[in-house]
Amino acid sequence: MATINLNYNKLAAGYLFPEIRRRTEAFLEENSGVEVMMLGVGDTTEPLTPAIIKGMHDAVDALGNADTYTGYGKERGMPELREALSERYDERGVLVKPSEIFISDGAKPDSANIQTIFGPADIVAVQDPAYPVYVDSNVIAGRTGGFNEKTGKYEGIVYMPCTEENGFFPEVPDQKVDLIYICSPNNPTGAVATVDQLSMLVDYARRNKAVIIFDAAYAAYVSDPNLPRSIYEIDGSKECAIEISSFSKDTGFTGVRLGWTVVPYDVIVKDTSPGEIRSAWNRRMDTFFNEAPNVSQAGGLAALSGQGREECQGLVDYYMRNAKVIKGGLDDMGMVTFGGVNAPYIWLRTPDGMGSWDFFNKMLSEAHVVGTPGVGFGPSGEGYFRLSAFGHTENIEKAVDSIRKNLRL
Ligand code: MLT
Repeated sequence: MATINLNYNKLAAGYLFPEIRRRTEAFLEENSGVEVMMLGVGDTTEPLTPAIIKGMHDAVDALGNADTYTGYGKERGMPELREALSERYDERGVLVKPSEIFISDGAKPDSANIQTIFGPADIVAVQDPAYPVYVDSNVIAGRTGGFNEKTGKYEGIVYMPCTEENGFFPEVPDQKVDLIYICSPNNPTGAVATVDQLSMLVDYARRNKAVIIFDAAYAAYVSDPNLPRSIYEIDGSKECAIEISSFSKDTGFTGVRLGWTVVPYDVIVKDTSPGEIRSAWNRRMDTFFNEAPNVSQAGGLAALSGQGREECQGLVDYYMRNAKVIKGGLDDMGMVTFGGVNAPYIWLRTPDGMGSWDFFNKMLSEAHVVGTPGVGFGPSGEGYFRLSAFGHTENIEKAVDSIRKNLRL
């Protein structure tokens, strides 16, 4: 008789964003005709740019012709795309070989799957709050015990609190951990790690033969030249860090799907030699994946052309103007906000210590604005709330206006 993977039963609740959608739909059912403004999930809204559309159209045309049709692609992704990404790292003074880059269908699946190449008993540390995929994927893989309702934590996971006091970047763990998930610019807090902060973590990882899994999905939002966009800007990181990136947030590929992961040859863990961890990820991709869609890859390549990059910067600037509107509006109301400067998320402290889900309900019922409750990202997110700057500017302005007029503080 087949059995189910019982680790699924440990998962504390449904995945965060479907849960928000469920609650929003329930509200709309009871309040038909009300216009709700969505600043919850970080989903892009602006159209793909002309260079990208042309790249994708050309790829579709090629598929429609017997002479240019292609089926399965090359392992690890189109060589030209991996070359172009490698060159982009080069501009930041970082050497990433094309053969260390694995093209995928997005940062989310890679964030969930990367843990499969590590030992089942490895101890996982996460920033708290964090993008839920890091924790949930490790729960499903069996690296944790049950969920403790009182603490809001899974047994066996090391939660590294990110608080106002530490600028939303964690201290290095005071115990030995093996896999450390870091996201910068951070989802959800909008904090960006500095070179010094990342250097401390890299030192820790090298001392303990731990691996940092660095989620750089929002790297394009860093405009401050002193802040790193890649973990590989930190000395020694190629021995201990894997970087996961995305075309979703700056190219608008949340629906098209395209991302990449860098696994350097130099990454080593216990009893491995250089190249083995990279080979394990290669093997995993060979077995479980058949390359990202060729039309998406053509779009990604176009996005990395001179014109594509200029246009994508335009998208980033657009969403960052939204971030300014949200942050400015809330600050003017006397709310305490964080992030929203080199990141597309605004993290706010709920008024009067209100619980995150209570504030979610208040925002929805009074201002008709959907955001994301901080506690959905981990226990240290309790008492905070996230607003996303992805959206049409008119809607963002309307939402801020409604918060200003209707939220009873
Ligand atoms: C978020 O809102 O946290 C993200 O958009 C979710 C994702 O990228 O999967």
